[in-house]
Amino acid sequence: MLGGNPEATGLRFEVDGEIATITLDRPEKRNAQTFALWSELTRIGNNLPEQVRVVVVRGEGPSFSAGIDLSMFGSLQPGSDLDSSIAEFQRGFLWLRRPDIVSIAAVQGHAIGAGFQLALSCDLRIVADDVKFCMKEPALGLVPDLTGTKPLVDLVGLAKAVDICLTARVVEAEEALRLGLAERVVPRDELATAVKEKTAQLLSVDRAAATATKRLLQGATGRSLEEQCAAERAEQVLRIRALNGG
Ligand code: ACO
Repeated sequence: MLGGNPEATGLRFEVDGEIATITLDRPEKRNAQTFALWSELTRIGNNLPEQVRVVVVRGEGPSFSAGIDLSMFGSLQPGSDLDSSIAEFQRGFLWLRRPDIVSIAAVQGHAIGAGFQLALSCDLRIVADDVKFCMKEPALGLVPDLTGTKPLVDLVGLAKAVDICLTARVVEAEEALRLGLAERVVPRDELATAVKEKTAQLLSVDRAAATATKRLLQGATGRSLEEQCAAERAEQVLRIRALNGG
């Protein structure tokens, strides 16, 4: 239905009605991410079946993702159009925030660098009690550039984001929950069930109202109270008209 060949890039993609599941499927390499994987993510986003409302991002094996495949290091040369290349990589992550879907990262074990940022690009994170988030990039002389810095600051605040990134330290489950990085922590063998429960809750509300509400919430921090009130009114007028058949 989608075309392409996700398996060749270390991904599995499955659709079951309103739920799509993206599985990082290279457990023997701890789901290390390649440029090809990011292109495939973009392609999945561009071709997401219209009925899909929830996108689950998960990793096979002991780790969610050990970050960028270290064999990719050095393959981007200063002479090339680095800005365009990075923008292209970022597209693989950005669509997970679309207002018409809710994305859930199911995270166990290590979520390092690009793995942490992939989890951050999702709306919600449900984590196993063995989770280890780490923003490793600054320790490697790089900045986190896969769309993760804004959600990190939005979730934990500037001071904690500075602490987490500039020390490249590990954030474990209890702290992730306390900081708001994780919505819920569950034992490892209950992760799939917890994600299913959340998915069912998300699917229980009206889709158009959910989309409009997510749009409103996403815009809230960038607006004044007055502007946000106006945005609420504008969305509600559309909802009331739709509910009344016009
Ligand atoms: N890129 C490529 N291969 C990797 C990566 C990676 N990021 N991470 C793990 N692997 C490979 C290992 O080389 C090993 O391969 P091999 O069996 O052929 O030797 C295999 O995956 C298993 O790795 P182990 O280290 O044996 O697994 P373990 O569970 O003990 O440790 C851990 C997991 C902690 C994730 C460790 O592998 C690690 O530190 N990986 C590198 C993490 C990293 O620095 N990522 C880059 C972050 S920056 C960014 O993403 C932009």
